[in-house]
Amino acid sequence: MAIVQKPRLTPVASCARDFSQSRALQPKAHELIPGGAHTYAKGDDQYPEQAPAFIVRGKGCHVWDLDGNEFIEYGMGLRAVTLGHAFEPVVEAAYKQMQLGANFTRPAKIEVDAAEAFLEIIDGVDMVKFAKNGSDVTTAAVKLARAYTGRDLVAICGDQPFFSTDDWFIGTTEMNAGIPDATTQLTLKFRYNDLDSLRGLFDQHPGKIACAVMEAEAVTPPVPGYLNQVKELCEQRGAILIFDEMITGFRWHLGGAQKFHGVIPHLSTFGKAIGNGFAISALAGDRQIMRLGGLDHDQPRVFLLSTTHGAETHALAAAIETVRIYREHGVVECLWRQGEQLQALLQQSIGENRLEGFFEVFGRPCNLVFGTRDQNHERSQPFRTLFMQELIRQGVIAPSFVVSFSHSDADIERTAEAVHEALVIYRKALDEGIEKYLKGRAVKPVNRRFN
Ligand SMILES: Cc1ncc(COP(=O)(O)O)c(C=O)c1O
Repeated sequence: MAIVQKPRLTPVASCARDFSQSRALQPKAHELIPGGAHTYAKGDDQYPEQAPAFIVRGKGCHVWDLDGNEFIEYGMGLRAVTLGHAFEPVVEAAYKQMQLGANFTRPAKIEVDAAEAFLEIIDGVDMVKFAKNGSDVTTAAVKLARAYTGRDLVAICGDQPFFSTDDWFIGTTEMNAGIPDATTQLTLKFRYNDLDSLRGLFDQHPGKIACAVMEAEAVTPPVPGYLNQVKELCEQRGAILIFDEMITGFRWHLGGAQKFHGVIPHLSTFGKAIGNGFAISALAGDRQIMRLGGLDHDQPRVFLLSTTHGAETHALAAAIETVRIYREHGVVECLWRQGEQLQALLQQSIGENRLEGFFEVFGRPCNLVFGTRDQNHERSQPFRTLFMQELIRQGVIAPSFVVSFSHSDADIERTAEAVHEALVIYRKALDEGIEKYLKGRAVKPVNRRFN
């Protein structure tokens, strides 16, 4: 393989990584914060024992941990940082706005500017309301759909992993402690790419389902016509179609997966990439539905996303600048191109290590993820841990291979080299036993019932 024959580049060069300062801080983090982190997906149980525990700074796609170790990072900020860490034009735009004030008694003018910039890029959408988290806007979409239809039940795509931290969704997961059964029973599940399963729910609960909530695409693409048929079915049954564009938005296409697939839902929700890591999310959609959150109707009023920090001005400035950069610099094309390059190199390395059926890379190039299987071809968390451990040893943090605009050709090549080395160990672990290579406990899924 051409890549592995090249001289090694720093920081991949094998060096014993010292995590002593990270180790020393971990007990305090767990003493002060349940889970040791404010987001479960970043927690210690999601990473190998031999991993940086705290990041101190980032630039582009590189980060530095508490001990001064440098890494190339993937899936940055849980896919929020699509341009790069500390991306100067965005930081500058946010900083300029901060100097004018973060929050006022009446709306800031920038609220209208940001709405205009957002609505220009999302086709067929009339109105938008901003918030801080993806969960909040998806929950707001569900509330709006319930108010508009006068129905209580919600149908979610059961093959897709996450829609919200709120009870209507988390109640359906393993980690549902504290959520009343009565709430969970209002959420039903249908299968992706299986129109009959959604039709079946509508048949079983006639006139009761307010909305269908789904990602237009997660790992599996829609079969031709499927998304249009879902929309038609929802309209026939008087329900609202909601696309969760948290991951697909600003990644599949600047106009979201709805633009990519040419199907406009009634409501859609965006977050993550909108502000390149600044906290901003959006609920967008059809005026007839969105206006229930407004002042110009005679229906019962919907309490729609009205929070103290919802329109924090510098996050809006960051979003406007992010949209400008996307439009002027072909960011989405770059995400696909860099992902394609990486995918090709990873496939080559999988072949060379005879790992077909054991280590898989899948998803769209702009959103690559990997799957790990053991010697019996069963999904394996220990093998996931081993793979991440070996990458970290060589200076790459990769819970996925989701690229950003800042992943240069050199970063991609360096990553491919690190992956090749990690897969050599993976092969040996399959042949000789994982105990010989895995240092410490395995990672665990976030949404589990017990620790
Ligand atoms: C598809 C999807 N929807 C919704 C959310 C929730 O977004 P947030 O974490 O900003 O509340 C996530 C978060 O990972 C997500 O992946």
